[in-house]
Amino acid sequence: MSQPLYVGVDIGGTTIKVGICNAEGKLLHTFEGATGTESGPDTVLENIASYVRRIVADNGYAWEDVVGVGIGIPGFMDFATGVVFMSANFPGFKNVPVKATLEQKLGKPVAINNDANVAALGEAWSGAGRGLDNVVVYTLGTGVGGGIIVRGRIYEGATGMAGELGHVQVVPDMEAIQCGCGQHGCVETVSSATGIIRMAKDAVERGDKTPLADLASIAAKDVFDAAKAGDEVALRIVKRAAFYLGKAMAATAVIVNPERFIVGGGVARAGDMLFDAVREVFKKYTPERAIVDIVPAELGNDAGVVGAAGLVLRGM
Ligand code: BGC
Repeated sequence: MSQPLYVGVDIGGTTIKVGICNAEGKLLHTFEGATGTESGPDTVLENIASYVRRIVADNGYAWEDVVGVGIGIPGFMDFATGVVFMSANFPGFKNVPVKATLEQKLGKPVAINNDANVAALGEAWSGAGRGLDNVVVYTLGTGVGGGIIVRGRIYEGATGMAGELGHVQVVPDMEAIQCGCGQHGCVETVSSATGIIRMAKDAVERGDKTPLADLASIAAKDVFDAAKAGDEVALRIVKRAAFYLGKAMAATAVIVNPERFIVGGGVARAGDMLFDAVREVFKKYTPERAIVDIVPAELGNDAGVVGAAGLVLRGM
């Protein structure tokens, strides 16, 4: 039986995730394929088109039933024209007409928005923000993303930069390093997986005594595991990542005054160790009337595709 289908695409540094939702926003199927970042934007766009066609065909749906495709992309973009200007973690994406190219390849309406904005929509609709009108979502992965949901809608700002919460500058100049966005001292440089790994490598290179020095390569999870096992060096790194995230949230709390902060992304899987440390800093630096809960995201890896499909389904 035919039914209207809404496709959501979530572009990550290594993987593109595609999901099909029905008219109620229920996620029916997902598919994951390689992004192909290293081969440049043309390949990435071609991969998206082929994965979208594939998930529809593989699950026995008719192409005519696809109403449209929503896409979450990391980086700075014009949501209306669908041109991506730059992406801190996608060096090749400079002035790429994503919407026009994919509409031409797929012959369907395409809506694009920032990856963290669409994950925030997903969480607000059916995750940790269910039933709330105003939430702020942080995604801690390769970069630090943010999404501000005000009265149930993404707050985009004048040039689409509202919610680029990873590029709030929190690290003092003396200690600041350059971010992929070109600025220095962004919260992304310390609270992302990339930032955590960099701090760990610096510690090892400095000769700090830590079991992390015995690893051939260090992942953010290794740093959290070492911290949980009591390694002082790893603990210091986790505290630093949490400190600057907590401070950034304190600033966001008095600018946006959300009902709740939601934190997702791979780094959030560190759990209580990270959340407790962030909450402590947040409480210390936030006026009491602006203090709210900081909770883990609930949709995990699905938030992006659900929110992206919703761009089309809800006409956003
Ligand atoms: C980008 C954001 C993105 C975030 C997470 C940041 O570097 O500026 O646009 O949402 O990474 O992918």
